[in-house]
Amino acid sequence: MGLGSGLSGHSRTLNDDLVVAPHGCGALPGFAIPVCAGGRKSMNWPNGELHGRLGLLLLAGVFLILQAVFVPAEQAHAQQLDTPPNTLDQKTGPAGIWRDLRRGKPARETRPFTPPVQAIQIEGEEWRKVRNEWIRPIGGGVLLFAFGGIILFALFVRRVPIEGGRSGRPVSRFTRYQRAVHWFTASVFILLAISGLILLFGRTILIPIIGKSAFAAVASAAKQGHNLFGPVFIVALLLLLPAFFRHNRPFWQDLAWLARGGFLSRREPPSGKFNGGEKLWYWLLTVFGLIIAGSGIFLDFPAIAPALVYLQFSHILHAVAAVVLITFAIGHAYLGSAGVEGVLEGMTTGCVDENWARQHHPLWLEELEAKGEKTARGCPRAVDPDGGDVPAAREAAEEAAS
Ligand code: HEM
Repeated sequence: MGLGSGLSGHSRTLNDDLVVAPHGCGALPGFAIPVCAGGRKSMNWPNGELHGRLGLLLLAGVFLILQAVFVPAEQAHAQQLDTPPNTLDQKTGPAGIWRDLRRGKPARETRPFTPPVQAIQIEGEEWRKVRNEWIRPIGGGVLLFAFGGIILFALFVRRVPIEGGRSGRPVSRFTRYQRAVHWFTASVFILLAISGLILLFGRTILIPIIGKSAFAAVASAAKQGHNLFGPVFIVALLLLLPAFFRHNRPFWQDLAWLARGGFLSRREPPSGKFNGGEKLWYWLLTVFGLIIAGSGIFLDFPAIAPALVYLQFSHILHAVAAVVLITFAIGHAYLGSAGVEGVLEGMTTGCVDENWARQHHPLWLEELEAKGEKTARGCPRAVDPDGGDVPAAREAAEEAAS
């Protein structure tokens, strides 16, 4: 969310700044560490004040003692790091050293007795590859597949009608609170989905259409908006999930509903307040929503991540979970509006037609009737948003007229 291109920027900065000296040593100005291919070969021993054989012998003695004491400790330390003491290939010159560093080979500082260090965070390159070569093409394909599925549904199934038309008897389905949190979550989700897709695919799709400078403004707005609305979505999710939990507990009949093709089968399998497809959506939203929320917190507040690799991993999780949820949200939005007659009014007015309830959720209606909880409180007298056939309302009007 809050990262932009910073996830791989680390290695690029090093790449630009590395200065390789002709003797095989390079300097990383940002780190102020001279990196050396040959380790010990590059040590420059002071010799100005040492004159005569005695001095040389003394120096050799001190060197041997120091070597006896420190080298085993140094080797043990290198083994502890599980890396060979100095693996850079100096024979290939500066280019070879640079290639080795980019592959993550440990380098030794010119200061003696320091352990080899990994100068470049090479996971940035892997992250960039996963994002550009896996998530973008596969995610893009999956989203196009979802749109294609909806077009096919609209062409061949058209709209699942209310069998036998409307009864005109409304049944209360959702409370005002449930409807409010649903539309609140849906609005924030749509904003995040649009801004997130701009960040993931905008370069490829928008630059050829609107040009680079306009895209820079759009991408910057998308990034700011995404960072701002991310935490709001977490709040929305924490309100929405408990509000719909009770009727989304899974049962065997839900698997049967899915296995028999739901309302695409000739006789729709019976279901409770929510069917197998709706419960699948609820639980996907729970699992992937929480993954998006957790990883999003890291990305929005990178300072709390212990290391860069946490952010790279979070970003991959975040993008994959987002593509999954957006794909299912597209299906949910279609089936919750144009795809099924009489469904949307439940989420707008709070009430559905009794015939709709009997056709799609007969177990729920039976349960309401058995408990004496079936009510039309707060509902309009006859639900007819499409101007369709409302026999009960028509009969009542005819009765009143005669
Ligand atoms: C803007 C497009 C959307 C439309 C038209 C829409 C429509 C609906 C409708 C009509 C229902 C009630 C279904 C029924 O009575 O059985 C519903 C339920 C629900 N919607 Fe949406 N919705 C949309 C977006 C979203 C989004 C983006 C989310 C979540 C991020 C969401 C989460 C839910 C949940 C959790 C339920 C309860 C049903 C269940 O648990 O599966 N909706 N939606």
